[in-house]
Amino acid sequence: MILVTGANGMVGGYVEEVFDGEPLTLTDSSSMDVVDFESVRKTFEKIRPKVVLHLAAATDVDRCETEVDWAFKTNVIGTQNIAAACNNFNALLVYVSTGGLFDGSKIDPYTEFDHPSPVNVYAKTKYEGEKIVRNLLNRYFIIRAGWMIGGGKQKDKKFVSKMVALCQSQDTIHVVSDKLGTLTYARDLLEIIKKLIGTPFYGLYHVANQGVCSRYDVALEIAKILKSSVKIFSVGSDFFPLPAPRPRSEAIQNYMLSLRGLDSMPSWRETLQAYLHTWLKVWIAVK
Ligand SMILES: NC(=O)c1ccc[n+]([C@@H]2O[C@H](COP(=O)([O-])OP(=O)(O)OC[C@H]3O[C@@H](n4cnc5c(N)ncnc54)[C@H](OP(=O)(O)O)[C@@H]3O)[C@@H](O)[C@H]2O)c1
Repeated sequence: MILVTGANGMVGGYVEEVFDGEPLTLTDSSSMDVVDFESVRKTFEKIRPKVVLHLAAATDVDRCETEVDWAFKTNVIGTQNIAAACNNFNALLVYVSTGGLFDGSKIDPYTEFDHPSPVNVYAKTKYEGEKIVRNLLNRYFIIRAGWMIGGGKQKDKKFVSKMVALCQSQDTIHVVSDKLGTLTYARDLLEIIKKLIGTPFYGLYHVANQGVCSRYDVALEIAKILKSSVKIFSVGSDFFPLPAPRPRSEAIQNYMLSLRGLDSMPSWRETLQAYLHTWLKVWIAVK
């Protein structure tokens, strides 16, 4: 049995599709609050999972910056509860973390062998979650993802859906070009996780689609795919002041996956196109 936390989220929405045929228990915050150890313990007692896919998290980076206790409770205490339960029930833990925990000063994309140095509260909480997983468990996968895309009609509330809406409603838009990252399509991420959990190669992995980009590059690509005539202007991040600082670069490379010969992640352009052509085509049609 695979127990999934945060199954209602952007990544969680693809679990049933990718793990088709596997026994799954999907939970959200109403069925199992990860911050409440008694709720976690009861669920583990009932389900007795072999594998736990821990996706539940406080993911709003700016809210984490202003509601610090909420961020630490959800991402650190929540992860500690899940890791402790995995320990008690001898379950393999897959913890999804972020590539946004580096300080951004490196020119090349970060590997698993670079040292994290978080610049905002969200990244700090995810990094503390990683340390807890490492300290409590022997059998775990820590998977760092890039800027997540996916979710389709109902669950995509992030950059891609916003850009799609803007491309359809505006003549001009401004998009930040001085912050770099790597995209991770949630569906591609789960395919890699599915592959990894069948191996004994526990540890830390970066999982991102190939190629470094800025939000501006992604916006240009979205407009191209949608054949939109919108004019897109490149701006610096100071154009949109936000509560949480962002590193100059959050770009990661799948170094461990490639060393292991397991890196099947497509390029970000290819995957963005696939995503837009599947989910968003339906979405645009029903709008
Ligand atoms: N989104 C990104 O750009 C990104 C990038 C890198 C890594 N990640 C990581 O990837 C994982 C999945 O992210 P995602 O994009 O799918 O996030 P998401 O769409 O925000 O989903 C996270 C889910 O966590 C659940 N949750 C929050 N607090 C909870 C609690 N106390 N107990 C149980 N569930 C709780 C929420 O469930 P309810 O709706 O039921 O409250 C929400 O559906 C997270 O660990 C995240 O840190 C995300």
